[in-house]
Amino acid sequence: MEPFFSGRFRWCLFVWALCYATALAFIPIPKLSGARSSLKSVEPGPKQVAVIGAGAAGASTAYNLRKYADLLGVPVNITVFERASYVGGRSTTVNVFDDPAFPIELGASIFVQVNYNLVNASKELGLDVRGASFERTGNRDAIGIWDGKEFAYVMEDSSSWWNIAKLLWRYGLAPVRAQNLMKSTVSKFLQLYKEPLFPFKSLTAAAASVGLLDATSTSGATFLEKNNVSPDFSRELIQASTRVNYGQNLPLIHGLESMVCLATDGAVAVEGGNWRIFDGMLKSAQANVQLNHTVTAISRNKDNTVTLNFKDEQSIRQKRADFDEVVIAGPYQYSDIKVSPALEHTPDTIPFHTLYVTLFSSPHRLSGKYFNLKNPSDLPPETILTTLPAGTDLGNAEEGVGPANFWSISTLRTVDAPSSSEEEPESKTKHYVYKIFSPTRPNEAFIRDILGLEQPKVKKAGYITDLPSEEISWSYEKIWHPYPFLYPRVTFEDPLLAPGVWYTGGIESFISTMETSALMGKNVAALMSQAWLDEDEDGQVRGLDDSPIVVQGESGEL
Ligand SMILES: Cc1cc2nc3c(=O)[nH]c(=O)nc-3n(C[C@H](O)[C@H](O)[C@H](O)COP(=O)(O)OP(=O)(O)OC[C@H]3O[C@@H](n4cnc5c(N)ncnc54)[C@H](O)[C@@H]3O)c2cc1C
Ligand SMILES: *[C@@H]1O[C@H](CO)[C@@H](O)[C@H](O)[C@H]1NC(C)=O
Ligand SMILES: *[C@@H]1O[C@H](CO)[C@@H](O)[C@H](O)[C@H]1NC(C)=O
Ligand SMILES: *[C@@H]1O[C@H](CO)[C@@H](O)[C@H](O)[C@H]1NC(C)=O
Repeated sequence: MEPFFSGRFRWCLFVWALCYATALAFIPIPKLSGARSSLKSVEPGPKQVAVIGAGAAGASTAYNLRKYADLLGVPVNITVFERASYVGGRSTTVNVFDDPAFPIELGASIFVQVNYNLVNASKELGLDVRGASFERTGNRDAIGIWDGKEFAYVMEDSSSWWNIAKLLWRYGLAPVRAQNLMKSTVSKFLQLYKEPLFPFKSLTAAAASVGLLDATSTSGATFLEKNNVSPDFSRELIQASTRVNYGQNLPLIHGLESMVCLATDGAVAVEGGNWRIFDGMLKSAQANVQLNHTVTAISRNKDNTVTLNFKDEQSIRQKRADFDEVVIAGPYQYSDIKVSPALEHTPDTIPFHTLYVTLFSSPHRLSGKYFNLKNPSDLPPETILTTLPAGTDLGNAEEGVGPANFWSISTLRTVDAPSSSEEEPESKTKHYVYKIFSPTRPNEAFIRDILGLEQPKVKKAGYITDLPSEEISWSYEKIWHPYPFLYPRVTFEDPLLAPGVWYTGGIESFISTMETSALMGKNVAALMSQAWLDEDEDGQVRGLDDSPIVVQGESGEL
């Protein structure tokens, strides 16, 4: 996401700064009166809670649950199962030249000022946060919007008033209208953070009551048009943002997520990697984190406890353990967990994007020739976002990349490359580090083209790894299911799937970001601790509205 959120772009596009902090009310924890110490548990002792997934959602669940439980005086034992070998999920870094001095984001790269869960946690955890604009590459640091043939728009040094004037000259009031629309949408969203809406049992109901279903029920294109934002501005600038952030054009992605793409004020990243927030949260939660542990099945027992089956890397043998509560903290459809007896409602399988992220370093700059610059020796902008050419109507097709063939190319930083010369092992050369987002794997010919390298006489089907190390000094490729296709919709999966079985992933069809996953994690933690308070003396679990929760169907036979 970083290209669009550069400080420069912010300045240029959005002249009206936001200041939501002051408008934010105190965010309360759920009502805490009547804390009791004799709560039901799988065994005497602490509440046993399992969280499946150590990404933003799972880490935030653990972090906030520890806080609520401490306030309530309820002892809780939190175990986090993570099938990967690292904490962070879709927030993770890799190191250029495998050198820990040069970490770069492979997944989620930025968050913004109004992302209070992440902003507050980074502060509390003492992490260094830096502006997300690019490290200076010694050049002009421009952003261009490429349509496959030409740059629809180029933003040069945006600290200049001239750019703002140029923007208003070109687009009239559209930038102002888009900005105001974004602001009012964000302030509706922020109501979900506080009482009386927080914590919410139903995201659908909460979204309806703050008036956000208007935005989620229509495409970004329709939403913007209805609000008098001109199609030129939408296509050239807003769509460039929905493409770099979500790989989706405005006729597909819903209005709310389109607005999120404009809420760029105060874009930051954590020094060393955003995953540090989630690592810090898990430590602060004193969670027992089991990496390389895959949960394979959840059995729901008659007494509303749950039994997890899981396996670790080494043993093929399944292990099992009993818990009072389990939280599925990631997309249900990719968790491969069998739930028995079956849930009354299993979260829908939704179409997810497939994104190729290609990171590499090279002594070469991007080629002016490839990008059809009038003077081919000129350098293209450091950040290249893309859009569709005027008049191209792909409708709401998922394969929406169009003639540009990629979503974005950004120049992240420069690094001193280790010398490849045997005569001068000490000599250093400056290499540029690039990130490409594309819907298919970039081939060798494409990489040669964008770097202005000659094509080999005999064409062959190669990839970045087939280029010589003088041209590409380091590379890393990754295929992600990064976010869903955010089709317009008006219902979202609930956080409570069944007694004792919680789910955070429903929020991804609403807004798919680290912050919203963290918000849903906190919401689940709040609902869970509230439910503990509502438990009857005899240990029967009550719903949040005080109605006993009834388990339907057969109870788990072990
Ligand atoms: C390339 C890319 C760029 C992005 N850019 C941004 C950005 O700039 N800003 C932003 O806010 N968001 C961005 N996002 C989206 C963001 O990464 C996600 O919305 C967020 O990280 C989701 O967090 P999560 O905890 O809900 O899910 P995940 O991070 O996916 O965590 C789920 C975890 O559960 C684990 N798991 C799943 N099943 C099991 C099982 N059965 N047993 C054990 N463990 C299991 C997984 O291994 C995973 O670690 C980006 C994503 C990608 C991929
Ligand atoms: C973040 O911190 C501010 C200032 O302390 C506070 O007002 C706000 O409620 C906090 N928000 C969240 C989500 O933690
Ligand atoms: C906490 O949970 C782990 C399982 O993850 C278990 O081994 C441990 O005994 C539990 N501790 C307490 C005090 O319940
Ligand atoms: C997890 O597995 C990876 C790869 O198999 C291994 O390198 C790592 O040490 C393991 N981590 C833990 C904590 O077991």
